[in-house]
Amino acid sequence: MIRRCWNSTTTTKTSTKGTGQHLSSVWSHLTTIQPVRGKGIYLYDADGTKYSDFTSGIGVTNLGHCHPKVVSAIQEQVTKLHFGQMNVVMTPQFIELSEKLYDITPDGIDSFFFANSGAEATEAAVKLARHASGKTNIVVFNGSFHGRTTQCMAMTTSKYIYRENYAPLPGNIHVTPFPHSYYYGWDEKTTIDFCMKELHRLVVSQTSVDETAAIFVEPVLGEGGYVPVPNEFMKLLREFCDQHEILLVMDEIQSGFGRTGKMFAVNHSGVKPDIMVMAKGLGNGMPISAVGASTELMSKWKAGTHGGTYGGGNALVAKAALATIDAMLEENIPARAADRGEYLMTKLRGVQDRNPILGDVRGLGLMVGTEFTDPITGEPAGDIAKAVRTGCIENNLLILTCGTNDHVIRWIPPLIVTEAQIDEAVDVFERVINDVTDCFSSDEEGMG
Ligand SMILES: Cc1ncc(COP(=O)(O)O)c(C=O)c1O
Repeated sequence: MIRRCWNSTTTTKTSTKGTGQHLSSVWSHLTTIQPVRGKGIYLYDADGTKYSDFTSGIGVTNLGHCHPKVVSAIQEQVTKLHFGQMNVVMTPQFIELSEKLYDITPDGIDSFFFANSGAEATEAAVKLARHASGKTNIVVFNGSFHGRTTQCMAMTTSKYIYRENYAPLPGNIHVTPFPHSYYYGWDEKTTIDFCMKELHRLVVSQTSVDETAAIFVEPVLGEGGYVPVPNEFMKLLREFCDQHEILLVMDEIQSGFGRTGKMFAVNHSGVKPDIMVMAKGLGNGMPISAVGASTELMSKWKAGTHGGTYGGGNALVAKAALATIDAMLEENIPARAADRGEYLMTKLRGVQDRNPILGDVRGLGLMVGTEFTDPITGEPAGDIAKAVRTGCIENNLLILTCGTNDHVIRWIPPLIVTEAQIDEAVDVFERVINDVTDCFSSDEEGMG
């Protein structure tokens, strides 16, 4: 017997306008705010209520909402050309963008493929790595997030919800421990030694080096908890990949474009990746992603075996990306992010000193995580982090969590955020922590 899990008998359509009832329920919503305008770090709804957007749309609007240079670039392009399909023509705006990316990416990255989303670019990087190496297997880190398509789900281990009930997923993906000292409770050196040891074990126990095409790594673990890869580990990873002829793929989708205080997070270690995957901050809100590699490596990706209608086609999006990069360079945005990031971390460490529930404050530039840990049990305090997130939102501060138990509040404001705006947000955060922890402790007292 076939089991039905839906009811198709409803025939009369009724609708309540403006409620979102026709949006798929697969989307979770942090809030029900309906912004009609965005400027700088703020979003405004139809009533004019102002919200501080410390989510940057999950790391997208690095220059803030509606940056004037991006707005003019789109306006200038809009009457000229919208679309030039890359298999039909050579869209000049994307030629220009590939040249601009060549200028700002690490040495050795000089050829670019374009797509629309981070997941698409990750999938493309997997295909490139397999074609170029002739090998099948991919290694990812525990806690990683690489996207939501079927291939990317198989590479994502930050939370089971991203893969739950979606089996079967593509195979040949192997998972190795991420160097997260705070999680293991070890010093950095012990953690690095352990993770390298496990990586060596992986290639003798699960995936031989002859079958391993690539290692994918987020230079700052994003959805998995905002944890920077120690520079020393990144260097060892590079050595390991060189030694075994494995491609090192940097997923800079969330950490790229000034976010960590340098144009790309991998620049902190000086390591040169073989492949780089970029999205989010590249278009400052316009959907665009890119895969970069050496011309030599790209030439091994057989022409015609990959592509897509829209990738490298939308001239408005390319112009927005060009303007975004220009603005980043002209306004010295990565250095500003480094500066403001230090300011934010110092303030948050002050909050940590006064609030033992904050177990760890860490990050690079303006990619900062505050991890909530029960000071008595040492367990991740996801309930408290989520209650703090709710309290911040009630105070018009939009903020996200991450980490396996949603126990880390992530700080990713637009990189143009000022010290005064940081002060205001951190004040709200601390006030809410006090309220929430008071409330949790009185609940416990009540339970006897
Ligand atoms: C590190 C990383 N990789 C990949 C992705 C997937 O990007 P997208 O949501 O654009 O498909 C994300 C999205 O959050 C990400 O943070």
